[in-house]
Order: sequence, then C-alpha cells, then structure tokens
Amino acid sequence: MSWRKEALAQPQCPGLHPEAGFIRVEGLGMSFGDRIVLDGVDLDIHRGEVFVIMGPSGCGKTTMMRHLCGLTRPTRGSVVIEGQDVFSLAPSELRTLRLRTGLAFQGGALLGSLSVLENVALPLRENTDLDGEFVLEIARMKLEMVGLLHAADLLPASLSGGMKKRAAIARAIALDPEILFFDEPSAGLDPVTAAEVDNLICKLNQVFGITTIVVTHDLPSAQCIADRVAVFFDGRVAAVGEKEHVWHHQDERIRDFIERRMREADERDMDIATFMAM
Ligand SMILES: Nc1ncnc2c1ncn2[C@@H]1O[C@H](COP(=O)(O)OP(=O)(O)OP(=O)(O)O)[C@@H](O)[C@H]1O
Ligand SMILES: [Mg+2]
Repeated sequence: MSWRKEALAQPQCPGLHPEAGFIRVEGLGMSFGDRIVLDGVDLDIHRGEVFVIMGPSGCGKTTMMRHLCGLTRPTRGSVVIEGQDVFSLAPSELRTLRLRTGLAFQGGALLGSLSVLENVALPLRENTDLDGEFVLEIARMKLEMVGLLHAADLLPASLSGGMKKRAAIARAIALDPEILFFDEPSAGLDPVTAAEVDNLICKLNQVFGITTIVVTHDLPSAQCIADRVAVFFDGRVAAVGEKEHVWHHQDERIRDFIERRMREADERDMDIATFMAM
C-alpha cells in the first residue's frame, strides 16, 4: 500500500462541514425473485462528505447505489433526500431530483459515435435551453476541470482507461450536481491513474462541496477519499463510520475483509514495483 500512498497528494479529503441526515435510508429491502439482495439497510449520508461503500462481490453495493439515485424501486423501505421520499415523488419531481445528481457508473458508458466534447455537452443539450455555443463553452470548462481539454475532439475509442473515466466524470458534472455517484471509479486502472481519479474526486468534493458516494473494491482508494465508510455483507450494513473505526472493527468478518483487501493492494503494488525495476 505504501507505494500507492506515495503517489497520492496530501492532504486527504477532509469534507466540507458535513451535515447529517442529507440522505437517509431506512429499512431498505430489495429482492430479485427469491434472492434477497438488500435486507433492511439503514444509512445516514451527510451533506458534503465522501461516503464510500465497500464489501465482497455480489453483496449488493451497485444495487444499493441504484436505489440511492432513484433508478431502482425497493421492495420495502425508503430513501429520503433532503426530506423528499425518492420513491413517493411524482415523475416530474423525480426528474428534478435526478438533475441534481451526477452518475459515473462502471464502464463509463460514453457514446462511441460522439466526440468527448459532445459526450459532455449531451446532458446540457437534453436538459437545458442554453444556446449551442454556450453549451460547448460549459462542456469545455468541465473538460478543463478534469484535465482533458486537449482530448475534446477525440472519439471515446481513442482514449486510455483513465481518460475515459475522466471524460465520464466531466459528463457527470455537466449540470453542476449536488450529489455525485461513482461505481468502481478505479476499476481497471493502474495504481497511478487510479490515484489521479481519486484526487479528482477529492478536488470536486472539496472545491464544490459535492456530496459524493463511491462504491469501490479498492482499499487504498477508500483510505484516500473517504470521510466515512460502510461495509456491506449479504445485503446488510455490517459496519459504518469513520475509516479508522471501520478498519479496526471488532467484528472478525470485517477485519478479515479489510486485511484481504490490504494484502491484495500490497501484492498489486509489489507487482508494479517489480515491473518498473525491470
Ligand atoms: N437485475 C437483476 N436481476 C437479478 N439479480 C440481480 C439483478 N441485479 C443484481 N442482481 C443480483 O443481486 C446481487 C447483488 O448485485 P450487485 O450488483 O448489487 O452486487 P455488487 O456488490 O455491486 O457486486 P460487484 O462487487 O461484483 O459489483 C447479485 O447476486 C446479483 O446477481
Ligand atoms: Mg457492483
């Protein structure tokens, strides 16, 4: 983990005056047929914080995130954002709420036939009445914020993995969201590029105060960006709180999970250090 840590700029994300109860999840349950995927989840996400969701593959992290942004309706329970129960909203109210959120999901999902600039401009074209040239100006500004202005005219196919992630982030912030969702932002990236994406997430959180919810497998990434962490097991919150509380949790299952992730990160870093020394 040390090699990766050195690649990260300090200080880590401190969060901006977090305010409890911004997003409240109560008794959330979700089943696909007989399979219970979320089993009575309670969470309190603070305004302005970076909240990280971890847990073994298949434990329900992506499903949880889809509920948080109103994309999937639960079998039971509620998600309340600033006092609004997401699943009781009229379609027009839900649309307004969605405009306050940005999604940067696994895979990035950039449209292959559009340039990077046009991909970032798309949410502005679809959701505002802004003049075409002004839309492009805003899109360029967003690309500049993620360090990708030089790639504005390229097609997504010619971008590296890290550039694709940054383009997806530029698109996610096109409408100046108050809440940003990331599903596995560092998946498939080498540690240095992953650290760059982490730093970008921190910058957006610190500079604009965007409440940020991140699903990740990557412990060094969670250590870098999180204000608070939740670890899910079998569709339930097994631990939640400040990083140090979670990393040193008394539950053996949590400690085993964290130690395994730590070993994986160390092995990966050793592989890279060996490769670079060759
Ligand atoms: N639309 C669906 N229909 C049926 N089962 C689903 C559906 N979506 C998810 N599941 C199941 O729900 C469980 C949790 O899936 P989810 O994608 O939330 O896990 P995850 O924690 O994000 O896993 P990973 O770390 O591999 O991304 C899995 O067993 C998955 O197969
Ligand atoms: Mg997932």
